[in-house]
Amino acid sequence: MRKAAVGATVICAAAVCAAAAVVVRQRMKSSSKWARAMAILKELDEKCETPLGKLRQVADAMTVEMHAGLASEGGSKLKMLISYVDNLPTGDEHGLFYALDLGGTNFRVLRVKLGGKEKGVVQQEFDEVSIPPELMVGTSEELFDYIAAALAKFVATEGEGLHPEPNRQRELGFTFSFPVKQTSIASGTLIRWTKGFSIEDTVGEDVVAELTKAMKRKGVDMRVTALVNDTVGTLAGGRYTKGNVIAAVILGTGTNAAYVERASAIPKWHGPLPRSGEMVINMEWGNFRSSHLPLTEYDIALDEESLNPGEQIYEKMISGMYLGEMVRRVLCKMAEEASFFGDTVPPKLKTPFILRTPDMSAMHHDTSPDLKVVASKLKDVLGIPNTSLKVRKVIVDICDIIASRGACLSAAGILGIIKKLGKDALKQGENQKSVIALDGGLFEHYAKFRECMEDSLKELLGDEIADTIVVEHSNDGSGIGAALLAASHSQYLEEEES
Ligand code: BGC
Repeated sequence: MRKAAVGATVICAAAVCAAAAVVVRQRMKSSSKWARAMAILKELDEKCETPLGKLRQVADAMTVEMHAGLASEGGSKLKMLISYVDNLPTGDEHGLFYALDLGGTNFRVLRVKLGGKEKGVVQQEFDEVSIPPELMVGTSEELFDYIAAALAKFVATEGEGLHPEPNRQRELGFTFSFPVKQTSIASGTLIRWTKGFSIEDTVGEDVVAELTKAMKRKGVDMRVTALVNDTVGTLAGGRYTKGNVIAAVILGTGTNAAYVERASAIPKWHGPLPRSGEMVINMEWGNFRSSHLPLTEYDIALDEESLNPGEQIYEKMISGMYLGEMVRRVLCKMAEEASFFGDTVPPKLKTPFILRTPDMSAMHHDTSPDLKVVASKLKDVLGIPNTSLKVRKVIVDICDIIASRGACLSAAGILGIIKKLGKDALKQGENQKSVIALDGGLFEHYAKFRECMEDSLKELLGDEIADTIVVEHSNDGSGIGAALLAASHSQYLEEEES
């Protein structure tokens, strides 16, 4: 009896020991997995660092590339495209004009009534239409027909007091937010698509001709009198309402900047010098690249697997199309190498672009003590339920690292422009503040990104210079800006002036 009891006790003790050993092993395993996850986080943090010294190098490289891109065709990764906008709005513009704003997954059509200096924008109406994903990679005809059909519908809703003057054709400012080599203010050929569009038969074609053909097919009698990039539209819209705007920056699905250059400082400009002596340049800074950019393995993989490998490297580190995707890639690595979400990698996490930047932003801004927004995004977007608070905190850290890097790099780009314009030093007798007009969803809706960009720019400029530069949100400047430029290039202008 005793023997049996002892035997049972020994067996029991052995089982307890074995169980304890399993627990210990599991604990050790999970603590080493956690350590691996922390190592991945630390490495990300280090590789994404943007100390002031590095940002200054990025800004200097931007200035150098600006010079090179202005000097000759193909002289730089920065296209430095001539916009043919040599006169920014004065306020005198008047009449009814249309604008079409195409640049992302939605496009907008606008109708604007301008009332000259006295009245400004008297009335405006708009409609927003989303582009079905298949049209972003289809044919030119399909895309432009879809847009022209929406325009036709919008024109049909012209109400009281919002008709063009009798015997006048409707005129349109076309904001087309992709790299275009302009051949005049109202024509230009597409260099390449960005931001997830890939419609090969449009590359090298005149986009105004494509739109005009589609408008004919859909029975819209309208003439494009200005073709502008969204940055150029934002600059024009900004000048109209905010005075001394020297540059405009878009931080949205994509990113880019335009600024006002002395025409005599553009060696590759072969036309007659404009009377204003100025020319707006569309930098296409999204394609900027420099050895000073803090690239990580995630950037390299994202680029290689993108629709436009090797292109838009700066844009891929900064803009709204890519930030969420970067976070997903980091989480994927943690899931694969550190079982961050359990023994298997959650299947949804493997889907490219499933984590959108607005969801990333919601997680990053979560102030609840138990990070419940993070928990619900993980569950709803990535199909990952029951995460611990510790895991959620790491996710907020990753969002912070990726967003801060993008924000600081965009501040460095702005400093590059300020330097090119010689506004990085105080000039005697110059007391007018220079305005940089900013727009785009990232700037508008991702508060932490915006704050970080603004703080970083201030720090880079130093207090004294920072006081002379104002960053202003130019809400929807690009649509109104295109309408204003359509007005200042109206085919009826000479008639009116004579
Ligand atoms: C395009 C630019 C555009 C920017 C912001 C980039 O992808 O190349 O033309 O201005 O996005 O919309």
